[in-house]
Amino acid sequence: MLCKQHGADLMFTEFISSEGLIRKAAKGIKKLDIFAAERPVGIQLFGGSEDAMEEAARIAEAAGPELIDINYGCPVHKVVSKGAGACLLQDVDKMVRLTEKVVKAVKLPVTVKTRLGWNEATKNIMEVAERLQDVGISALSIHGRTRAQLYKGPADWTLIGAVKNNPRITIPIFGNGDIDGPEKAMEYRERYGVDGIMIGRASIGHP
Ligand SMILES: Cc1cc2nc3c(=O)[nH]c(=O)nc-3n(C[C@H](O)[C@H](O)[C@H](O)COP(=O)(O)O)c2cc1C
Repeated sequence: MLCKQHGADLMFTEFISSEGLIRKAAKGIKKLDIFAAERPVGIQLFGGSEDAMEEAARIAEAAGPELIDINYGCPVHKVVSKGAGACLLQDVDKMVRLTEKVVKAVKLPVTVKTRLGWNEATKNIMEVAERLQDVGISALSIHGRTRAQLYKGPADWTLIGAVKNNPRITIPIFGNGDIDGPEKAMEYRERYGVDGIMIGRASIGHP
């Protein structure tokens, strides 16, 4: 609510397990509650099963958000070991299939949140951006770290800027990582040309 009152244009729910949702796990269902003041809001889903993600997207759509977001960025072992979150960065073919299924399952716009790649040697965000755009996502948020980096070291925005400036890319690109003040937000927006800035940790604790 504080973020909204202070001008956030778009917000997302915490990620919700598609597997949990299709089994009607109370935790997942509770996260589907949307308050009028939060709008426009996206419900974020994660999972490694194409069928579960497809079904969960329909359930999430019925909760009435403005959009559905898919998480391909979560680096934690519990998520990655189930083939979800950032794990999909290692299997772009599957990521593309899964995304296409979700896009086709719902009428709402579908957006994606991900990272630069799995690790330093495999930064594949350019391929990911082009292929996900081709299967119909409406916007892409990029966290400027690899999965291997977790949250360590400074976020690298150069590749985010390269994706934004790729003439093949026409969808909005939102940059994410280490933005902790209005000056930095403006500086990075101008330097890398992104369509929006996503704020994570700096919105918590001392908003
Ligand atoms: C405790 C914690 C929980 C997070 N949960 C989510 C999540 O559910 N979905 C998501 O897309 N990103 C999640 N993130 C990642 C942030 O959205 C963001 O990508 C990352 O922290 C880098 O941006 P920042 O430097 O602005 O925090 C989480 C990060 C932290 C530290």
